[in-house]
Amino acid sequence: MYVIAGATGNTGGVVASALLEQGKSVTVLVRDAGKAEAWRKRGAQVAVAGLDDAKALEAVLAKAEGAYLLLPPNYATQDLLATSFQVADTLAEAVKASGVGNVVFLSSIGAQHEGGTGPIRGLHHAEKVISAVAKNVTFVRAAYFLQNWAPSLAGARADGVLHSFLTADRKIPMVSVVDIGKCAARYLVEPANGRRVVELAGPEDYSPRDIAGVVGAAIGKAVKLETHPVEAAVPTLAAMGFPESTARLFAEMLGGINSGHVSYEGAGAKFERGSVTAEEAIRQMLGQQG
Ligand SMILES: NC(=O)c1ccc[n+]([C@@H]2O[C@H](COP(=O)([O-])OP(=O)(O)OC[C@H]3O[C@@H](n4cnc5c(N)ncnc54)[C@H](OP(=O)(O)O)[C@@H]3O)[C@@H](O)[C@H]2O)c1
Repeated sequence: MYVIAGATGNTGGVVASALLEQGKSVTVLVRDAGKAEAWRKRGAQVAVAGLDDAKALEAVLAKAEGAYLLLPPNYATQDLLATSFQVADTLAEAVKASGVGNVVFLSSIGAQHEGGTGPIRGLHHAEKVISAVAKNVTFVRAAYFLQNWAPSLAGARADGVLHSFLTADRKIPMVSVVDIGKCAARYLVEPANGRRVVELAGPEDYSPRDIAGVVGAAIGKAVKLETHPVEAAVPTLAAMGFPESTARLFAEMLGGINSGHVSYEGAGAKFERGSVTAEEAIRQMLGQQG
């Protein structure tokens, strides 16, 4: 049986679907049983446990052949990093106590660095503490999610402008959550022997200007890219309701992406490309067919 955390979210849902389609036994881990009804109907078991509850998590993981784990983004907290570190420690405690034989953990490119990466610092810590206790673990270090563009699409449709804090013409790795989920499902079924790092990008790299072109083609009107300095991310995100410390972390991450600090480690990591293009991902976000 495979335990899938975050099944109501972007990547966990894809992991659970991929395993169910292969006829595997799946337990989705949710905080709210009411949100798991659709999974139950599809043949999954449901376990109610928070990723911040080591004992409850241990009990579920103890019965699992493998587990997909992630650090849920908690933007409501006043101290995002402290919360991330705490949840990472809880995950590691449960992995250790349960003795689960195979973990696939969603990380990010840049997680090899201790600092200069904003919220990815939490993933660096998670990799460290989980590596110390897991029997076999695969860290899927995903590139910038193509789905990060979703909140900008309505504005692009309305005003013909796509806003970004990323450098206009610098191509960076981006990946769809569908590719991430499929990759994670594969590594649940094919466990690592010890520790494995997989750096995952989409089929090609894109610049923000490329994305503006893709969005324009999908909505059928010209979309202009407007970029803003990274420092402007702090007041913008604060105005959207993010705590200022969280906004600063995001600015640090954006700066790290623009400078190339948030990138692949290479070295012992395995590099993979998924198959979902920006065109397909954007059309899917716009509710259009493939
Ligand atoms: N965005 C990027 O470009 C990028 C790139 C690389 C890596 N990442 C990493 O990707 C991760 C997010 O993955 P995602 O997009 O698949 O997640 P997501 O869609 O944000 O979903 C988070 C999931 O976690 C669940 N959850 C939240 N708090 C929980 C708790 N205390 N206990 C149990 N479950 C909880 C949520 O369930 P509910 O339905 O109960 O809320 C939801 O299913 C983050 O760690 C982020 O750093 C992001």
